[in-house]
Amino acid sequence: MKNPAKILTQFPKRALDLDWRILTLILISVTFLTYVSLSSSSSSASSAAAFVSFPSFPPLKSIFSGHAAEAPSNRPESRPANPLNGSRIAVCLVGGARRFELTGPSILERVLRVYENSDLFLHSPLDTNSYKFLLLNDAPKIAAVKIFKPIPIPETESQVRVLTAQNSPNGIQGLLQYFNLVEGCLTMIKAYQEKNNFTYDWIIRTRVDGYWSEPLGPENFVPGRYLVPPGSSYGGLNDRFGVGDYNTSVVALSRLSLIPQLDSAGLTQLNSETAFKAQLTTQGVVFAAKRLPFCIVTDRKYDFPPARFGVPVAAISSMGPLSGAKCRPCRPACSETCVGPIMSGLNKGWSWTEWRNDTLDLCDARGAWESGWEELFDDVAGENLAAARKRIRALDMGRCVDGFEEMKKKTAQWDGPTSAEICRLGLKTV
Ligand SMILES: *[C@@H]1O[C@H](CO)[C@@H](O)[C@H](O)[C@H]1NC(C)=O
Ligand SMILES: *[C@@H]1O[C@H](CO)[C@@H](O)[C@H](O)[C@H]1NC(C)=O
Ligand SMILES: *[C@@H]1O[C@H](CO)[C@@H](O)[C@H](O)[C@H]1NC(C)=O
Ligand SMILES: *[C@@H]1O[C@H](CO)[C@@H](O)[C@H](O)[C@H]1NC(C)=O
Repeated sequence: MKNPAKILTQFPKRALDLDWRILTLILISVTFLTYVSLSSSSSSASSAAAFVSFPSFPPLKSIFSGHAAEAPSNRPESRPANPLNGSRIAVCLVGGARRFELTGPSILERVLRVYENSDLFLHSPLDTNSYKFLLLNDAPKIAAVKIFKPIPIPETESQVRVLTAQNSPNGIQGLLQYFNLVEGCLTMIKAYQEKNNFTYDWIIRTRVDGYWSEPLGPENFVPGRYLVPPGSSYGGLNDRFGVGDYNTSVVALSRLSLIPQLDSAGLTQLNSETAFKAQLTTQGVVFAAKRLPFCIVTDRKYDFPPARFGVPVAAISSMGPLSGAKCRPCRPACSETCVGPIMSGLNKGWSWTEWRNDTLDLCDARGAWESGWEELFDDVAGENLAAARKRIRALDMGRCVDGFEEMKKKTAQWDGPTSAEICRLGLKTV
């Protein structure tokens, strides 16, 4: 992916060396591009208005390809040929909706729509951002949604023996909540299978806060092997994404119920990643690491530059693949020759991620997201994804409730609060 921000900042310097005729040409095309982006943002406003009167959102395809036709800056997304055509695929989406207006459209376009026959399973705690799940109305198929009010999970003796509270923002309870989110999704999948008398061939586990810069390719589906991204392994295995056949996935997703086995194996002081690795090795599941084009969008602040056990925060505009590293929209504080010295200082088995060949640009994430992050994001994501971000920003109570009612109708198994409650939580100040 090109980095438009970088190109723009380099533009004035380069322009000085150019012949005035070329400069004129550039000015004309900038004017043209401004015109196109203005006209396409007004048409995104009209497609936002359109979903008030229609019973459902216009399908994502129409929004995306429609805009691609109007905005020459957006190439149509190329999809890998899909040899998994006849396969039954479950996509397990877990986590809180925090920045789903940024990540959701990329998940729809680059995971769900790549596998048109896939069934979506969403497992998420209810919060003030849950209304953003409205964007999932554009998913090809929604099998089950569970949006729940989080309650403390009792800690068993074996869990206390096996797990460590270190580096987990909310201690062991935080780990258990996360494990429950993941395993709960498997429970939903099993229930759906039982009801419909079939078994999935593959399960894709991915996070609500993942931003996908490229499609998830079919080469990542390897029978008998659980696939995870490299890096961000914190002493174990990167647990921010995984895909595997049904049997390996059952092991990988059984994050709570396998803890007694880890206890029997005498393991202690495990964090999420080391527990995950132990889960696979104790059950004899072979795993492999492959670089994947997504990052985890985070609002958290981190020291900069990151120390040996610090967390690097990638610019979302990095070329990638970022394999699940933390990211945010930023003007990179460090790119090209600045990256190597910093990344070489990181412990390779901890929060390290691949950086060579200029695939990684770093943000200075000590503060909040910088002003103008919206434009930085839109430049990277393109007009199509930016339209969804703006749609969420412009949402009101009436359209939100109508949208959720529509989504409920097309969801086979819905378990959650009322549409009004979800929408009110998020939009009460609007
Ligand atoms: C995949 O499915 C599409 C439509 O369902 C079909 O046209 C295509 O031939 C299939 N491809 C393979 C490799 O089976
Ligand atoms: C479930 O599917 C199997 C094989 O496809 C079939 O033999 C069986 O009768 C089905 N059971 C029900 C309850 O439909
Ligand atoms: C998956 O597990 C089931 C039950 O444990 C077993 O019968 C089946 O052969 C396994 N499938 C594969 C592909 O390993
Ligand atoms: C960097 O690029 C070269 C040439 O394309 C390639 O052979 C090498 O594998 C790349 N290294 C990494 C770490 O991506």
